[in-house]
Amino acid sequence: MVGLGPKPPPSRKGSFVDVPKDLLKEIEELEQLFTVDSDKLKQITNHFVNELEKGLSVEGGSIPMNPTWVMAFPTGHETGTYLALDMGGTNLRVCQITLTDQKSEFDIIQSKYRLPEELKVGDADELWEYIADCLLQFVETHHNDINNVDKIPLGFTFSYPATQNYIDEGILQRWTKGFDIPGVEGHNIVPMFEAALERRGVPIKLSALINDTTGTLIASAYTDPTMKIGCIFGTGCNAAYMEDCGSIPKLAHLNLPPETPMAINCEWGAFDNEHKVLPRTPYDMKIDADSPRPGQQAFEKMIAGLYLGEIFRLVMIDLHDNHEANIFANQDISKLRRPYSLDSSFLSAIEDDPFENLSETADLFQNQLGITPNGPELELIRRTAELVGTRAARLSACGVAAICKKKGYNECHVGADGSVFNKYPHFKARGAAALREILDWPEKTDPNEEDPIEILAAEDGSGVGAALIAALTLKRVQEGNMHGILHPENFA
Ligand code: GLC
Repeated sequence: MVGLGPKPPPSRKGSFVDVPKDLLKEIEELEQLFTVDSDKLKQITNHFVNELEKGLSVEGGSIPMNPTWVMAFPTGHETGTYLALDMGGTNLRVCQITLTDQKSEFDIIQSKYRLPEELKVGDADELWEYIADCLLQFVETHHNDINNVDKIPLGFTFSYPATQNYIDEGILQRWTKGFDIPGVEGHNIVPMFEAALERRGVPIKLSALINDTTGTLIASAYTDPTMKIGCIFGTGCNAAYMEDCGSIPKLAHLNLPPETPMAINCEWGAFDNEHKVLPRTPYDMKIDADSPRPGQQAFEKMIAGLYLGEIFRLVMIDLHDNHEANIFANQDISKLRRPYSLDSSFLSAIEDDPFENLSETADLFQNQLGITPNGPELELIRRTAELVGTRAARLSACGVAAICKKKGYNECHVGADGSVFNKYPHFKARGAAALREILDWPEKTDPNEEDPIEILAAEDGSGVGAALIAALTLKRVQEGNMHGILHPENFA
């Protein structure tokens, strides 16, 4: 299969012959709960198409469909040096990107900083100070005399839903991905960020506030013009695509030329917040109820890396506490009781265990949780991980299919990034299989044939993509397109 990399090693066969009846019954019930068949995928996709439309309307819907003021695809001939700051869910990354004279080429230097957990639920000022410190350190390392440096243009990838009346503005709609910092929702984050830079004397001017999906879309299109959608399957889950201004009723009052492109950050994590189609399980409901923003991000909470380990953990706890099967009987499961103690790499490791006796999974449970599962319990663990991982991949495909249906794309490439896409076993193949079912593609005659719509690993969106968006914005301002620019003086 094109784009799926080398052929995977033959997977373990697995067998449930030694699994006692009561556990088998549990496995079957989990299969029922977590399996999403083709018809359901199609039903979800059709509803998704309507919800995308609704988000663009004046009344709006639950998917925000945020216009981003990114108004062109790159040509590959963009040039210049830019800084990029990426405030993702887990790390903070600062890059300096030089778009070179060679078509579609770039040089990049970067530093990563861990985003301390306590900052994610702490005080806003501390967050901005921490970010400004990281930027200062980076600029001091890479520029000799920061007092004599012209202000460097920066693309800031802020991957949360934000209303952008301008590209250099971002009014945080709500925190997602477990962040919960008071006093930021409902406010434009740019002045908060700039004030912290000012206090530190960091010579930077913000050219564009960007979502990671928009960055991924633009970075991917820089090297592959058939890329039409940018997706993130990581800590969170979301996509961006290029719309025509004429198809965005909520922007009609601005009288933008109808054919002009406008990248839309869908924020599709909010799909089905009203619970009309997604087959939620009691575990999904508990995750939502215990999260900092109940009722929000219904789709994301079933798919994204932040939640996969937690869904699995809740299943395990339930089967221990409330079911006859009483897995891990008489063992101390206190470590397993800690919320969010298993991340998606734990599930990846289970699904990657190549051994018939699942010895790696047994070690994992022993070392991380102090639990010794027996053979049948190991089979149940493996099957649960497969079910949770497969459901995530299949539901993701509904979002991609919905954008393609809405835009009438029968053939295109989709650029995807994020830890789940890049590291979770079989995620790509399961997603591709689901797309085939949703869009009724015939079986391939040649295994090397490309699918009409391929989801491929993207270029670095929050680095190169952010730099490109800064470059595209500077270019359009120079050409006199001042739409969606709040501070023209920063683009002089
Ligand atoms: C969450 C954020 C969204 C981001 C996605 C992937 O869904 O709300 O802005 O694109 O995570 O990081």
